Amino acid sequence: MSTPSNVTIAPASGRLGILIPGMGAVATTFIAGVEAVRRGLGVPVGSLTQLGTIRLGKRTDNRTPKIKDFVPLAPLECLSFGGWDIYEDNAYEAAVNARVLDAALLAQLKDTLSAIKPMKAVFDHEYVKRIDGPNKKSGADKMELAEALMDDIREFKKTNGCSRLVMIWCGSTETFKKPTAVHQSLASFEEGLRNSDPDIAPSQMYAYAALKLGVPFANGAPNLTTDTPALQELARQNNVAICGKDFKTGQTYMKTLLAPGFKARMLGVSGWFSTNILGNRDGEVLEDPGSFKTKEETKLSVLEQILQPDLYPELYKDLYHAVRINYYPPRGDSKEGWDNIDIFGWLGYPMQIKIDFLCRDSILAAPLVLDLVLFLDLAQRAGMKGIQEWLSFYFKGPMTAPGLYPEHDIFIQLMKLKNTLRWMQGEDLITHLGLEYYD
Ligand SMILES: NC(=O)c1ccc[n+]([C@@H]2O[C@H](COP(=O)([O-])OP(=O)(O)OC[C@H]3O[C@@H](n4cnc5c(N)ncnc54)[C@H](O)[C@@H]3O)[C@@H](O)[C@H]2O)c1
Repeated sequence: MSTPSNVTIAPASGRLGILIPGMGAVATTFIAGVEAVRRGLGVPVGSLTQLGTIRLGKRTDNRTPKIKDFVPLAPLECLSFGGWDIYEDNAYEAAVNARVLDAALLAQLKDTLSAIKPMKAVFDHEYVKRIDGPNKKSGADKMELAEALMDDIREFKKTNGCSRLVMIWCGSTETFKKPTAVHQSLASFEEGLRNSDPDIAPSQMYAYAALKLGVPFANGAPNLTTDTPALQELARQNNVAICGKDFKTGQTYMKTLLAPGFKARMLGVSGWFSTNILGNRDGEVLEDPGSFKTKEETKLSVLEQILQPDLYPELYKDLYHAVRINYYPPRGDSKEGWDNIDIFGWLGYPMQIKIDFLCRDSILAAPLVLDLVLFLDLAQRAGMKGIQEWLSFYFKGPMTAPGLYPEHDIFIQLMKLKNTLRWMQGEDLITHLGLEYYD
């Protein structure tokens, strides 16, 4: 099946600036990691754009280029980094505090990392209750704050000689909010900015500033942010690519591996209890019930949407699913996640599976940040605007068009991602039908 696209992809010439609200554990592990890879000090394990391949044509054609050789991605040498945080620590100090990467590795990268100093943040304590810091902007109203962010973006672009920018939210998880009237249209949102409407979150001011300036935006946290009609209207109006939300790492990543496997074999699941201990700043923020609720929503929805209890009531209608996160400082960024899964087979006979995942959150998240910024930049150069559903692969709560349920099965997500790349380059899509090998 051939589906040639009419996509023209502008070349990845010049520098790509990566702008990051929230220069904490994930952001600094990402920046330091890219710098280490550039210098040959490490391998970008976990990154599809750097290590992944893509099959083209028939299995007998032996065409399997690396993804980065197949589509024109920005090379790592051409990336510049900047960001905002409420703390004044530069990227080196923040990385040391995050205690993710070894001190010896960070010492080798100190000069480059120390030069990345966070710009003053737009912050609202009502949205993130457990932390506060001195490096904040002040303004007469929320519109003035959003405009100050736009000034930062323009200034960063100029001083770093960038030809293009991408923004990715790596800030703390904001408190749980449902969209309200102010989020329903761009006009009401802009009115809300001028009136400092309390329902407009800081992450939405960053997203607004980015989209106004034509900068693609990804959301690594579960907050609403661009998942609102107002900001999606702005993205479409200004032809900007957006995606989100909440990086799919750790326990939820494991769920999206296992649950499709149970369903594929028509095995039942009666219970799934997930608990976590983690001791980083993210864990501290998630101690607040409002921030935890935001996280819980994306974590809980995954199973329901993969298992489809409406279609398979005998297998999943009574599934009991619970997720807990506890802040436990001694572990730092090294999280431990336990899952107890009660499944059942033939004639309803019960079985149990236990998973104990001693994972490193930021080590899992950093390559996703890299892939997302490179793919979003690619999408933008290919003229793809609005929600980029093909990037669902990276998210716990993938954004979709209104009324469309999200696809959570990671293998379907990967097929969709790769087929999108094939489509962009005018290659045949791969359906895995394969009858032609037996003709
Ligand atoms: N690490 C993972 O595997 C993973 C997975 C999914 C989602 N996330 C999300 O990614 C985000 C970052 O995680 P982390 O471990 O780096 O957390 P972190 O606490 O180390 O870093 C977040 C940083 O954001 C800053 N911040 C908060 N509000 C801000 C604002 N309005 N403007 C600018 N800076 C602001 C904080 O000061 C902090 O330095 C969190 O929301 C987390 O829930 C992480």
